[in-house]
Amino acid sequence: MQKIFVVGAGTMGSGIAQVFAENGFDVIIRDVDIKFVERGLGVIENNLKRSVEKGKITEEEKIKVLGRIKGTVDINEAKDVDFVIEAAIENMEIKKQIFKELDNVCKEGTILATNTSSLSITEIASSTARPEKVIGMHFFNPVPVMKLVEVIKGMKTSEETFNTVKELAQKLGKTPVEVNEAPGFVVNRILIPMINEAIGVLADGVASASDIDEAMKLGANHPIGPLALSDLIGNDVVLAIMDTLYSEFNDSKYRPHPLLRKMVRAGLLGRKTGKGFFEYK
Ligand code: CAA
Repeated sequence: MQKIFVVGAGTMGSGIAQVFAENGFDVIIRDVDIKFVERGLGVIENNLKRSVEKGKITEEEKIKVLGRIKGTVDINEAKDVDFVIEAAIENMEIKKQIFKELDNVCKEGTILATNTSSLSITEIASSTARPEKVIGMHFFNPVPVMKLVEVIKGMKTSEETFNTVKELAQKLGKTPVEVNEAPGFVVNRILIPMINEAIGVLADGVASASDIDEAMKLGANHPIGPLALSDLIGNDVVLAIMDTLYSEFNDSKYRPHPLLRKMVRAGLLGRKTGKGFFEYK
């Protein structure tokens, strides 16, 4: 496996492209608008620049890694790649459309993975004629730093596909865990309701946003507080995951807090828009 196609140049897509390129793979990163592609490539370049400044890599290594990544808006460039990972918006209809196109464009043996944070792998796979080659490969934000990859089997995912993706995650220096498809998989089923609860604590006026985060950092030893984490993940993504958990389980314990929905409606998405529960410059 050498040629990788990443669909989506946002926070996750660009992080995934960077990690593949750092580990010697040739990467094509695709988004619908060249503006998004350029922004993603800019983020990767800045990350690598910081690594050079910290002395973690040399300037030559940076140039080599960047040279392995090519941007495009054309999905047809996936025709001769060995592996595809999709990291587009968390919307089932859009993902199914993308997988349908990829299924038409890609070689027979190409594995089609999705970085979805909570949607059904089985349903995404149903839009293709190769459900045994469709799988979840779920990275965590920030991708270059976080060690975990959830490797998620849909109902028809083959063992061969699972083993290939597990090995691929290891080649990237990540630690894979095996997950059978279920809403939110493992991490998000536990983590996102905790964030939702923190938003409820804020809405109830129990404590300020910074005190809630301070409490969870010092009282539970979390690296950052739940509200700062929501801003890091993106409040729109947190809402999409809560909506999925709520609709899939039909259990009120997963109801998204109205304040979360209101913030998303106001465009207070977190780091990516400069303001969420906290402000970012
Ligand atoms: N890209 C690349 N590297 C980054 C980065 C980014 N976006 N953000 C931070 N880093 C690197 C820094 O360069 C730094 O590297 P060095 O140690 O080599 O200097 C290192 O990470 C630590 O960063 P900082 O010192 O600036 O800050 P920190 O100690 O607070 O660490 C953090 C930052 C790693 C993000 C830490 O706060 C953390 O672990 N937060 C929790 C993250 C988390 O839980 N992520 C999962 C979210 S859930 C998810 O992603 C799944 C989903 O589907 C929604």
